[in-house]
Amino acid sequence: MGEESAFFKELKGSAPFFLMAGPNVIQSEEHCLKMCRQIKAVTGTRDDSLGIKLVFKSSFDKANRTNASSFRGPGMEEGLRVLKKVKDTFDVPIITDIHESWQAEKVAEVADILQIPAFLCRQTDLLTAAAKTGKVIQIKKGQFCAASVMRNSTDKCRAAGNPNVLCCERGTMFGYSDLVVDPRNFVLMRDAGVPITADVTHALQQPAGRALEGGGVASGGLRELIPAVARTAVAVGCQGIFMEVHDDPTSSPVDGPTQWPLRHLRRLLVELIAIAKATRGNEEWDIDLSPIGNDFDPQAEV
Ligand SMILES: *[C@@H]1O[C@H](CO)[C@@H](O)[C@H](O)[C@H]1NC(C)=O
Ligand SMILES: *[C@@H]1O[C@H](CO)[C@@H](O)[C@H](O)[C@H]1NC(C)=O
Ligand SMILES: *[C@@H]1O[C@H](CO)[C@@H](O)[C@H](O)[C@H]1NC(C)=O
Repeated sequence: MGEESAFFKELKGSAPFFLMAGPNVIQSEEHCLKMCRQIKAVTGTRDDSLGIKLVFKSSFDKANRTNASSFRGPGMEEGLRVLKKVKDTFDVPIITDIHESWQAEKVAEVADILQIPAFLCRQTDLLTAAAKTGKVIQIKKGQFCAASVMRNSTDKCRAAGNPNVLCCERGTMFGYSDLVVDPRNFVLMRDAGVPITADVTHALQQPAGRALEGGGVASGGLRELIPAVARTAVAVGCQGIFMEVHDDPTSSPVDGPTQWPLRHLRRLLVELIAIAKATRGNEEWDIDLSPIGNDFDPQAEV
């Protein structure tokens, strides 16, 4: 198996966590540049910024949505051009998703993290092709998968020589058109032996759960609960937070209901940093089950 890359080690070592953030889909070069500039002003290196490691996120193709006429994005070639521009302008690493094995090498020329979408998390050929690029791979846990499956998916990357893997929780299918976030997964997924990340925006999606005026459906979501899931994730020691952020979520062509408003980004991150610093969420408890003697003094323990 190959060595861990310097970038992967940097992500692993990011305290209190690293942030993957950006608009759901690439709307235009101008919009991506604006979003990255403003997010980086919050996280980055200015005197008043928070000093969190940022990876910029956006997708070039949103296919396979329930609604066939849903906005797809600019496609791979144009999308990679925009992402490269963002990367060069702001000196920020990039994460974007791939859907086909043949895209892996091409996308790896620009992206620092290749994301495997949740629906494709078990696809062996896709995982292998992604892993062979040597880039960091983020595998989203399928909405239909047990936490334990992520170990098998991670092993597929390792078998292809790449130990640079992140596993991401994004909610579990819960009946029709709804997801539930099971906080146990943030801990159980550690069995894969890699850093755990939390997609705190898609986790609040209600797939095809929103009725459109005049008929039709789109993805709904519970934006007001994003902070609750994000607080939980950092409290239990997730090492990366993935968050779709938009300057005007109601105008976003896709997934508006689950993008976090840019104007509230700073306030949420300030809180998450404080929570992450207050807990020891990454440490396992070694619970002592020996009986307590009569001389146990609970006050002395605090
Ligand atoms: C849509 O799903 C098909 C079948 O799994 C896959 O081949 C294709 O790459 C997907 N496209 C996107 C953009 O997700
Ligand atoms: C998944 O991985 C676990 C742990 O390595 C292993 O015990 C199990 O057999 C694997 N499952 C399958 C279906 O390969
Ligand atoms: C698909 O999306 C379009 C554009 O948002 C909308 O006008 C249409 O009603 C939707 N169709 C269905 C079947 O949901």
